[in-house]
Amino acid sequence: MNILGIETSCDETSASVLSDGRVCSNVVSSQRCHRSFGGVVPELASREHERLIVSIVDAAVTEANIRKNELDVIAATAGPGLIGAVMVGLCFAQGMAWALGLPFVPVNHVEAHIFSPFIDEGASHCAPAGAFVSLTVSGGHTLLSVVESDLSYEVIGRTLDDAAGEAFDKTGKMLGLSYPAGPVIDRLAEKGDPYFHLFPRALTSRSQTSKSYRGNFDFSFSGLKTSVLNWLQKQTPEFIEQHTPDIAASIQWAIVSVLVEKTIDAARSRGIKAVSIAGGVSANSALRKAMKEACDKEGITLHVPGTVYSTDNAAMIATLAAVKLSRGMKGEYRYNISPYASFGGGSRKG
Ligand code: KG4
Ligand code: ZN
Repeated sequence: MNILGIETSCDETSASVLSDGRVCSNVVSSQRCHRSFGGVVPELASREHERLIVSIVDAAVTEANIRKNELDVIAATAGPGLIGAVMVGLCFAQGMAWALGLPFVPVNHVEAHIFSPFIDEGASHCAPAGAFVSLTVSGGHTLLSVVESDLSYEVIGRTLDDAAGEAFDKTGKMLGLSYPAGPVIDRLAEKGDPYFHLFPRALTSRSQTSKSYRGNFDFSFSGLKTSVLNWLQKQTPEFIEQHTPDIAASIQWAIVSVLVEKTIDAARSRGIKAVSIAGGVSANSALRKAMKEACDKEGITLHVPGTVYSTDNAAMIATLAAVKLSRGMKGEYRYNISPYASFGGGSRKG
């Protein structure tokens, strides 16, 4: 079965062809037009998707070495995301499905991230045999979920304010780094001291309140943002310039240590022996290393996506569509768009 997946929920235009569960192409174009703005400008994102969608889909089909009339199903991100951006991919996918007389499968973007660590294992093995704890961390989401082997899941923690990727991007902007600052901080931090300055870790056992937050799986990163801003305002430009790698490493460690602590705590409290990380921030080298060390210490198996499947990509959309179809879901011929699409309709618990 050949499935074409399309992803346009934020600032990546992507298309992928999955043949019998194997990724045959995964073309991703990251928009550069937002760099000087320090964040994604929704209107520009929609226009860029509109400009690129035809050539990206063509490239994905050509790279997979098939013709469009050999496609069996078309899938696209149906939310959550920037409404204009989602609409470009969704309307294009539905139009193409209609023109080719094919069924269309809408896919939830965050669910696709959750299952992205298992893409290389093939769609039919899209999850480990038992339950696993998923940490999904991107520019828009920070979620801890318990996922069962039947693919149902329960969200047990989420951010109360900023997402982890947003914390990287906004503190990076304060340091004068270009958008998206997450990968830049990652690179700079390699040469820095993560203990140079201790920034706050909200809602953790290290929070400076008498209340213990063990067992609380929610996150909060807005205090970190304020703390970085206040601290930077007290330093001279020369000091900041001289210590940029140390500051980047300290910010990174403040975010990563919270993500690791909460994820391991969740796995321990539920007696679950498998953990996965997903979403753009899961590309972070310090997060990968610290999570691996913590999992090894606890005898937990860690599942990590290939770096191309960490950030937004269409292979994860096509893969989740394949899994849903293999479990009896039928394609549709109409679908409503929602920027606030909730998780998973029938598959979410709680
Ligand atoms: O999943 P994604 O591509 O898009 C959303 O669905 O939001 O995630 C993008 C986010 C951005 O905030 C970006 O700064 C962050 O992922 N990111 C990273 C790294 N690579 C991407 N953050 C930290 N370290 C990285 N290496
Ligand atoms: Zn994403």
